[in-house]
Amino acid sequence: MPRACWVWSDAVDFGGRHALVTGGSTGIGLAAAQLLAARGARVSIIARNPDRLEVARALIADDGGTVCAVAADVADAAAQDHAIDRAESAFGPVELVFANAGTGGAFGPLTAYADAMFEQVMVTNLTSVFRLLRRLLPGMLERGCGSVVVTGSLASVRGMPMNPAYVASKHGVMGLAMAAAAEGAPAGVRVNCVLPGFIDTPMLHQLGDDPAALRARLGANVPQGRVGSAREAAELVAFLLSDAASHITAQTIAVDGGILGTLMPRL
Ligand SMILES: NC(=O)c1ccc[n+]([C@@H]2O[C@H](COP(=O)([O-])OP(=O)(O)OC[C@H]3O[C@@H](n4cnc5c(N)ncnc54)[C@H](OP(=O)(O)O)[C@@H]3O)[C@@H](O)[C@H]2O)c1
Repeated sequence: MPRACWVWSDAVDFGGRHALVTGGSTGIGLAAAQLLAARGARVSIIARNPDRLEVARALIADDGGTVCAVAADVADAAAQDHAIDRAESAFGPVELVFANAGTGGAFGPLTAYADAMFEQVMVTNLTSVFRLLRRLLPGMLERGCGSVVVTGSLASVRGMPMNPAYVASKHGVMGLAMAAAAEGAPAGVRVNCVLPGFIDTPMLHQLGDDPAALRARLGANVPQGRVGSAREAAELVAFLLSDAASHITAQTIAVDGGILGTLMPRL
């Protein structure tokens, strides 16, 4: 039976629920935080750089959103825990989680990849999400309600050259989401994993000097013929976090303009 705490509505309304977004200062995380706030969630955002975080907080607040911003490095267990404490003291128990903070790490062949870089990527993209879920799932399980979305990548399901740490961490975080989904399902707690393709964000821009040329080059690899926007990725996240997705859990869903699902032979 559907849970009593679920609310279906034609207009998505998060009804004041507390949504925590890591990596919420730019890109996909910011777009998701903006959408969630616009649809009635009280949103906590976490990222490292305090200036960019403040810009994001002000954007959301100026649009009428209820938002709290806490600067922290998710790779630092104590700092992430402290940030969650601060978020929960502002808005109460976290009910919705978008575990999205991530780093691309350095590019280089597996045969020469440095231990320190491998570990930095793994702790940022994977271990931090494990710690976040370990901290927040117990409350959700107890309340019998909660929804989590984790940001994977097409590199969660495909190999990619020259970035073994990123590929390993994104495979790992998808697996972690599935493990959490299996533990959460009997209690009505949902966990899903989104796989962004080429999404137009600051992280993507690190791949080239000229953003327009980069968009065109990468877009040529996409069946839709273009890169995606942060808003397009955020719409999927907001849907999965909402009660409109109340029977959807343990899924990985790409928002990639058709890359994963198609074979486009150039004849
Ligand atoms: N854009 C794409 O095409 C694409 C494709 C596949 C997957 N993804 C994934 O999507 C997620 C969001 O990336 P994005 O594309 O939106 O890039 P972005 O605009 O660079 O956003 C990354 C966010 O994460 C934060 N962050 C990074 N490292 C952090 C750390 N150690 N502690 C706390 N916050 C941290 C950043 O803020 P600070 O730097 O200030 O900390 C920023 O808010 C990442 O997990 C990424 O791997 C993106």
